[in-house]
Amino acid sequence: MELNQKLTKQKSFCYSTLVITCIFSPFLILILFQAQAFPFYTSTAASRVFFSKLKGVTVDTKHGHDQSNDAETFISKLRESVTFLPLKDLRFSETAMTGNTWFMSSLNDTYEENEAQYLYFPSQATKGRILCIKGHDTKDGTKNSYALAWKETLPASAILLQGLSFVSDTYYDYSNLWHGVCAMAPFVGWSMKNKCWKPTRWVLFHWGELRSKMGSWLNHLMQATFGEIPVESFEGGDVPHCFEKAVMVRHNAGMMGREKKLEVFDLLRCKARSICSINPVDKGKDVNERGEPIIRLTLLMRRGSRSFKNATAVTDIFARECKRVRGCLLKVVQSGDLSFCEQVKVMADTDIVASPHGAQLTNMFFMDRNSSVLEFFPKGWLELAGIGQYAHHWMADISGMKHRGAWWDQHGEKECPFPKRDSRRCFTFYKDGQVGHNETFFAEWARKVVNHVRIEKLEKVAKTSELNLSTCAC
Ligand SMILES: *[C@@H]1O[C@H](CO)[C@@H](O)[C@H](O)[C@H]1NC(C)=O
Ligand SMILES: *[C@@H]1O[C@H](CO)[C@@H](O)[C@H](O)[C@H]1NC(C)=O
Ligand SMILES: *[C@@H]1O[C@H](CO)[C@@H](O)[C@H](O)[C@H]1NC(C)=O
Ligand SMILES: *[C@@H]1O[C@H](CO)[C@@H](O)[C@H](O)[C@H]1NC(C)=O
Ligand SMILES: *[C@@H]1O[C@H](CO)[C@@H](O)[C@H](O)[C@H]1NC(C)=O
Repeated sequence: MELNQKLTKQKSFCYSTLVITCIFSPFLILILFQAQAFPFYTSTAASRVFFSKLKGVTVDTKHGHDQSNDAETFISKLRESVTFLPLKDLRFSETAMTGNTWFMSSLNDTYEENEAQYLYFPSQATKGRILCIKGHDTKDGTKNSYALAWKETLPASAILLQGLSFVSDTYYDYSNLWHGVCAMAPFVGWSMKNKCWKPTRWVLFHWGELRSKMGSWLNHLMQATFGEIPVESFEGGDVPHCFEKAVMVRHNAGMMGREKKLEVFDLLRCKARSICSINPVDKGKDVNERGEPIIRLTLLMRRGSRSFKNATAVTDIFARECKRVRGCLLKVVQSGDLSFCEQVKVMADTDIVASPHGAQLTNMFFMDRNSSVLEFFPKGWLELAGIGQYAHHWMADISGMKHRGAWWDQHGEKECPFPKRDSRRCFTFYKDGQVGHNETFFAEWARKVVNHVRIEKLEKVAKTSELNLSTCAC
């Protein structure tokens, strides 16, 4: 039970904060300290002036050696006083899941209305100091460390990395589609707010442990958004690497408001379609030769875990219902077989996606806004999976899609062999099971959604909506 809660909490972190945001944000915003855009430069400039004066003293021999020696001593003392703390603070390991508070625990986040929490270095809050990291350990976050230092008095042997670095820590990972996009969304949002500023490098941590790459799907998505950006691997070894400018995020989407999330996903969709050379179809004018709207229904299939027990039977049901409605076109695709751009293309050409629960559904945000999602779960999930199973309901909400319900399989050949109380072992038992079908239910559901979408599209055609070929927001 306890572990199941843990599982559930883990799965739900990215989402639960989303939900909390939706419910509480109007209240939270009232108590948030509202930072001005770029409050940082004044303090950086101040420290620059200070240090150049100090250096002026050291070279100005006219004023006598005593003073110059004092200044040199002072600078070297400042270099030596830079204090490194563990990146992962075990004192907060109990609460790490509720906000990842163990990463750079001595530093406070900056809150801005509607935005995810972040930290910017150098800023007034850091008194003009930049972020330095000794971070090449990939197995133990407590062995990595961080410090703040003035650019003019970096610790001995420090390497200064020019440009803007995006420094991320996530409790989850950079390979799963959903977790990955949750970790990256705040950077996309930050960039949008700051004149589409693009990073020079990524610095990725997971529990304070260095990660040298992201998964292929996420990598493609970020390339589409920011261009080819290297992931830092600290090849200089166990010496401090200091970042001229850095944005650090450790709470995933955190307190980002729903409107902002919609904007972020609009940009991701736009960028992905653009890099994949997909010309947006004017769905309003997407009609067949008889002038009827085309309704594109896609069955996004999986293999292995959470695949349909009888994919042929499920395909037959959807094909039959689609055939009944004029203009409906059914496509059946194996999500695992598709390249990144093929996934984007399939979804860009889909009005209704029906798919078993799984990371492949994260692709839903490549559909036009207001498209529909149907989701299927194997037996055991409804009772045992906790709120994490609603991930794609939330994804639909924050990317502007319509989740038209889920079907939870109630039948399975095998019952959980462990006592019912042992919900963790039972969930593990059911987690990757296959999904059955209910012909009556699926047929009614498909009919209802296809007809609904058809009516919406008829209205759109009537309005002869104009395609807005405007460019991406960034
Ligand atoms: C962080 O915030 C807490 C609570 O507001 C405050 O006590 C603490 O001094 C802050 N720390 C820093 C480094 O600003
Ligand atoms: C799968 O469904 C089809 C069509 O309903 C049926 O003919 C076939 O026997 C089923 N296969 C299995 C293995 O149950
Ligand atoms: C989505 O649907 C809502 C109504 O449910 C409508 O107000 C909105 O304009 C639609 N958005 C787009 C982009 O079609
Ligand atoms: C299948 O779905 C129909 C319609 O919702 C329902 O009445 C029926 O009980 C379901 N059949 C099974 C075996 O669950
Ligand atoms: C297209 O979008 C841009 C930016 O979102 C907007 O300013 C413009 O008015 C839109 N044009 C039409 C015809 O809707």
